[in-house]
Amino acid sequence: MKNQTTLIIGANSGIARALAIQIATQEKNTQLIVISRNSDFYQQKIFNDSAVFTVADYQEETIKKVIQQVWEVSRTHIAQVFICHGVLHTDRIKPEKKLQDFSAENLSELMLSNAITPLLWLKRLTPMLSGNNPCKVVFFSARVGSISDNRLGGWYSYRASKAALNMLIKSTSIELARSAKNIKLISFHPGTTDTPLSKPFQKNVPEDKLFSSDFVATQLQKIVINSDIDGQASFIDWQGEAIPW
Ligand SMILES: NC(=O)c1ccc[n+]([C@@H]2O[C@H](COP(=O)([O-])OP(=O)(O)OC[C@H]3O[C@@H](n4cnc5c(N)ncnc54)[C@H](OP(=O)(O)O)[C@@H]3O)[C@@H](O)[C@H]2O)c1
Repeated sequence: MKNQTTLIIGANSGIARALAIQIATQEKNTQLIVISRNSDFYQQKIFNDSAVFTVADYQEETIKKVIQQVWEVSRTHIAQVFICHGVLHTDRIKPEKKLQDFSAENLSELMLSNAITPLLWLKRLTPMLSGNNPCKVVFFSARVGSISDNRLGGWYSYRASKAALNMLIKSTSIELARSAKNIKLISFHPGTTDTPLSKPFQKNVPEDKLFSSDFVATQLQKIVINSDIDGQASFIDWQGEAIPW
């Protein structure tokens, strides 16, 4: 018997996939709904009971439409949302090593995928999430988005997009503490995790500091369970330790 729903957005992320497997195989009381631009991974048998939505893009109009469809298929209240978007590099974009590498075009692209898109989801989901049932919304952020923790510099656009995401989360949490007290927002730093995002940067990472997606997904689930609905946004790492904003 399903008595709660988990929604994973940007579900083709390496970490999201591991999380989805854990939920589908271990949480029999949870209805799983996933949204991605590429849902091939979710054609496996273990996801037969899950609702899988494939979107063409993450424009606001698309987000609005798919949320309506989610509303129609969700049989119980949404207790957890994981918003997993994050781009560090593309065929064209490399993280900047120095100021002269900076470009308006690259920053705009990362702002869109890493900060604007996650907030559009929250904007469109909030009317559906607010109510009496507790709901925890996790955004995949990164420690490098911490302004006070920035000691190395570089990676201008990625850092700035994650700092922007954190600010958007923080501002929304202040509004929700008044208008939707049942929603808790969590900005999550997974640590360096073995996925396509970190692949080009793994060379100098000690073996015990490069996590598997499965490990990170397990840590994240513990963090979500242990988070109180306290009207505040938390910026938290994979160990459950607070990161300075
Ligand atoms: N891996 C690490 O070492 C590490 C470290 C710190 C923080 N993080 C953060 O953790 C999150 C998940 O990372 P991952 O390592 O699992 O990455 P990944 O496997 O490369 O997944 C990429 C994610 O970004 C989405 N995405 C890609 N291009 C996009 C675009 N143009 N617009 C909107 N969304 C787009 C994908 O959505 P689709 O499902 O639609 O493809 C997917 O959710 C990211 O926010 C990342 O910044 C990762």
